[in-house]
Amino acid sequence: MNDTYLELVNSGFTKQIAKKLGLPRPARLRRTDPRRVDDPLVPGPVVVVGEGPDADAVATGLLAWDLDVRRTVAVGTRVGAIVLVLTDIVDPTQASQRVLATAGMLRDLAPSGRVVTLSRAASAEDDPAVAAARAGVEGLTRSLGKELRAGATANGLVVADGVALEVPAVLGALRFFLSARSAFVDGQLLPVDGAGAAPQDWTRPLEGRVAVVTGAARGIGAAIARVLTRDGARVIGVDVPAAGDSLSAVMNEVRGVALQLDITADDAAERVIEVARARFGRLDLVVHNAGITRDKLLANMTPERWDSVIAVNIAAQLRMNEALLAAEDLAPDGLRIVSLASTSGIAGNRGQTNYGYSKAAVIGATQALAPRLARAGGTANAVAPGFIETEMTARIPAVTRQVARRLNSLQQGGQPVDVAEAISFLASPQAAGVNGQVLRVCGQNMVGR
Ligand code: NAI
Repeated sequence: MNDTYLELVNSGFTKQIAKKLGLPRPARLRRTDPRRVDDPLVPGPVVVVGEGPDADAVATGLLAWDLDVRRTVAVGTRVGAIVLVLTDIVDPTQASQRVLATAGMLRDLAPSGRVVTLSRAASAEDDPAVAAARAGVEGLTRSLGKELRAGATANGLVVADGVALEVPAVLGALRFFLSARSAFVDGQLLPVDGAGAAPQDWTRPLEGRVAVVTGAARGIGAAIARVLTRDGARVIGVDVPAAGDSLSAVMNEVRGVALQLDITADDAAERVIEVARARFGRLDLVVHNAGITRDKLLANMTPERWDSVIAVNIAAQLRMNEALLAAEDLAPDGLRIVSLASTSGIAGNRGQTNYGYSKAAVIGATQALAPRLARAGGTANAVAPGFIETEMTARIPAVTRQVARRLNSLQQGGQPVDVAEAISFLASPQAAGVNGQVLRVCGQNMVGR
């Protein structure tokens, strides 16, 4: 789906007019292309701001990827990313020097540049000054996300106490936030614990894994199939028989297996397991992407609209999860589950009580599954997209759609590939320490947290 306004304010004459009139000018984001893996990780030098062993560990870790890592730069030097290390501060007054050093580089941040904060989780057991120093980073990161321009983003990693910064879990998450894979993730703080191993090849972290993706015939699901395949996985794509032709086309493209199946069918889980067992002998990842909307104000809600949304968006995946947990031999390294939530399930959305219920339910189920899966080395996470340009959002009336697109820090809708990249990251070996989380892919939508 195209955003004509974005194209206009980025081309020739109309760009000048938009500038003169002071209209919002969403930038073209630096994005990944599922067919290519050789793009540079970061568009310029990465400056690690901080002192002491934590900052040293991060700088050393980044050097291993052949990045141009600096600790300071002269004013006027174009910077690709800034990593602001605040894990060691124990009082809010200690942040200022590093924050102000970061401030001095922001004007030199490249288009689609990155600021990533690293901090520790604040807890009620902390000394109040320590908790204040840690918690403050969240407000800093979210506010900075709203200030950056030209497609640049600010995100944070909240590292569990006692976890060293050089472990693959931290570096892997940092890599995701630095790269174009996180193009539409903005203003997010992701908690990370120490679990997770470095993949043998950082460009193919899912090598040897088998994934099932529901709703794979189009939109976000098709992008997920492409990105997982690029990252090394073999994919079983599921969609309703009515979407059989498109499903075959996507699966032919990625050399995956097409499974025509309504996920609300009683035997849906068994059929998925049967195909995975017969074709690959394993199933490491399930991406619950199939979803529907049947919008109506609650006062006008019909049983059909309410029940169909609940059946597809949450009930079907609960049944499939139980069946997959029972077939644990299929996931020798632990089952990964990633479910599509939505910002509507976090902040609510007029006309979407049914959808909002189902997507908040996805988050509840994810959090309850996380400890169960962790026992066998698996994880359950949710990805909450904001406004993504797909056939689902193309059905929104034109004016509402234009407004909805601009209501985030990047002033545009995301692309299906943006959601797919977040899912592939959560499925990767280095993300084993991200569990029970909701990662928003919403350009820092101005709703919810
Ligand atoms: P879409 O409507 O373009 O694609 C959904 C796919 O799921 C379709 O191919 C459809 O045939 C399939 N599907 C529907 N019911 C099914 C069933 N019972 N069994 C098997 N397959 C079924 O949707 P889109 O935009 O790609 O969304 C994908 C997911 O992302 C959904 O869960 C949606 O709720 C979520 N999402 C989308 C957002 C957006 O802005 N597009 C925002 C937030 C969440």
